[in-house]
Amino acid sequence: MIQDQLKQAVAQAALDHILPHLTRQSIVGVGTGSTANFFIDLLARHRMDFDGAVASSEATAARLRSHGIEVHDLNSIAELEFYVDGADECNGHLELTKGGGGALTREKIVAAVAKTFVCIADESKRVDFLGGFPLPVEVIPMARGHVARQLVMLGGNPVHREGVVTDNGNVILDVYDMRIIDPRQLESDINGIVGVVCNGLFAARPADLLLLGTHNGVEKFGRR
Ligand code: 5RP
Repeated sequence: MIQDQLKQAVAQAALDHILPHLTRQSIVGVGTGSTANFFIDLLARHRMDFDGAVASSEATAARLRSHGIEVHDLNSIAELEFYVDGADECNGHLELTKGGGGALTREKIVAAVAKTFVCIADESKRVDFLGGFPLPVEVIPMARGHVARQLVMLGGNPVHREGVVTDNGNVILDVYDMRIIDPRQLESDINGIVGVVCNGLFAARPADLLLLGTHNGVEKFGRR
């Protein structure tokens, strides 16, 4: 099976998981990226069965609207049952690295609000240790040099993602060669650097359910 078929399969599995819980009043949190796009396209077939969505990026909002799905402001939502999103890496504790698509901050905000974070990923994303994928850090533009120096002191090799401005008007540093022994601690340490808006470690708030697309079918992992 090619990678896109695995992504399609996990997107379908996520839909199957949430559909029985949706009512006409439900709002669904939707992530960003190619796997999330498969989910959006499948979700659209059921757009009469729920109220609308909250989007983790402008790109996702545009795709949802193109399907006729109403996009709500997160501030107008009292509660969010589900957030469905992909990942760049996932480990056995359902901790993730995210932000390959640059949407990490809004993704982390929507994940924080959601009761259940359903992560959908193909098996290439499963790792024993996070950090093989360069860790994205969203930074206030004027702090880029300062934050980069601090990240070097933490053992990383930050590289400015040239030409990218996030939906929030900020820049991204991709941190290579980071040995991530304790994801939760590192997430907190990076957040403590002045000028950092958010980093792509999702460890303090990991996924609740991981749907992993493998060549043997979709495997389900819950948080232990
Ligand atoms: C975007 C993300 C994505 O979830 C992550 O990059 C995975 O993307 P894809 O599903 O295209 O592999 O964090 O900021």
